[in-house]
Amino acid sequence: MIFEKKINIIFNKKNKISTAYLNIPIKGIKIMNEPKILKCFYNQKNNEIILKKDNEGQPLIVQANGNSKLYRFTLDKEIIEKTGYKKNQLVKIDITTEQIKINFNQEEKMSKIISIINFKGGVGKTTTTHCIGSGLTLQNKKVLLIDTDPQASLTFTALSETPKLTIKDILVDQKNINNVIVETENFDLIPSNLILNLAERQLTSKFGTEKLLKKALNKLEKTYDYIIIDCPPSMNLFTINALYASDYILIPCETELLALDGLNLLIQTLEQTEEELDVKIKNTLVLPTKLDKRKKVSKEIFEHLKENFKTTISTIRTCSKLNLLGLDKNSIYQIDSTCTAAIDYKNLVGEIIKWDC
Ligand SMILES: Nc1ncnc2c1ncn2[C@@H]1O[C@H](COP(=O)(O)OP(=O)(O)O)[C@@H](O)[C@H]1O
Ligand SMILES: [Mg+2]
Repeated sequence: MIFEKKINIIFNKKNKISTAYLNIPIKGIKIMNEPKILKCFYNQKNNEIILKKDNEGQPLIVQANGNSKLYRFTLDKEIIEKTGYKKNQLVKIDITTEQIKINFNQEEKMSKIISIINFKGGVGKTTTTHCIGSGLTLQNKKVLLIDTDPQASLTFTALSETPKLTIKDILVDQKNINNVIVETENFDLIPSNLILNLAERQLTSKFGTEKLLKKALNKLEKTYDYIIIDCPPSMNLFTINALYASDYILIPCETELLALDGLNLLIQTLEQTEEELDVKIKNTLVLPTKLDKRKKVSKEIFEHLKENFKTTISTIRTCSKLNLLGLDKNSIYQIDSTCTAAIDYKNLVGEIIKWDC
């Protein structure tokens, strides 16, 4: 059955539309007239947008087929002013038997993806992932944390029960990423466990395995403001997968002498891999951790880091309260919102929110 229909779109508070729905109570829907470019007209009186096929103003004619297609919409001036979308906005239309879902945000990448990397263990990668994750949630951001370390410390600090599915199910067994996500009080999590060690061997012989995580993230149904990846302490396939998907890299570095050993090599390796994989990391920053200004060596290493590397403005001081992470699955802000770690990580979260703004 062919029909014509206006699409009503309600503006949200920010006058931005991310998704609009057109309910079609008919089975077997399909786009009939296959327009490549659609015109959107804004009708101020009814605060609605009308989709039209072309300049002649023919409305889009649809039937159901359960597909999703990308269309380039030409938006008229009023819509551009009201929404801030581009004149030629790429729009994804999902057609199901029950409804048509129109997603205006196709070209805008919604989530900022940050990988927490250092090939050394014990430098504060997992702690940083957890504290940034819960800190961003406190700022009303939607956050997904991903544990890609077979040691699974992040999973342990966040979950009381052994997870049924883990990152291995996504990367090796190609399970739907949306079924692996576990919701916690503080953030959503893709867990890990020791089996991931075996998974690497299964994957390395295959082609194109460095893109598996990125491909899976493209299939996320929930929209996250931030995705933070806790990486293993080596340049293995999982670190490469994280790198491939990332916008930013944060390198926690202890302010102690041994920490400097290997930092140059780490940054060189990251740069080389970025070039080889042709990935565009917007920024790679060193985060000084476990700073203790009472100790001369800690202060000196901190100064050295600031002079020789691109560092974050925020630093993380030593704080014994961090040892309690994972005890009751509480965040550092729930453990003690006034401890030095809570204050320092809150500052870091504020800094992260300003990236790119
Ligand atoms: N700022 C800090 N002050 C004191 N202890 C810390 C700090 N950051 C991390 N730790 C502790 O150091 C240990 C290693 O931290 P973790 O985050 O697991 O490192 P990684 O993930 O790099 O191996 C943990 O016991 C953690 O509680
Ligand atoms: Mg860790």
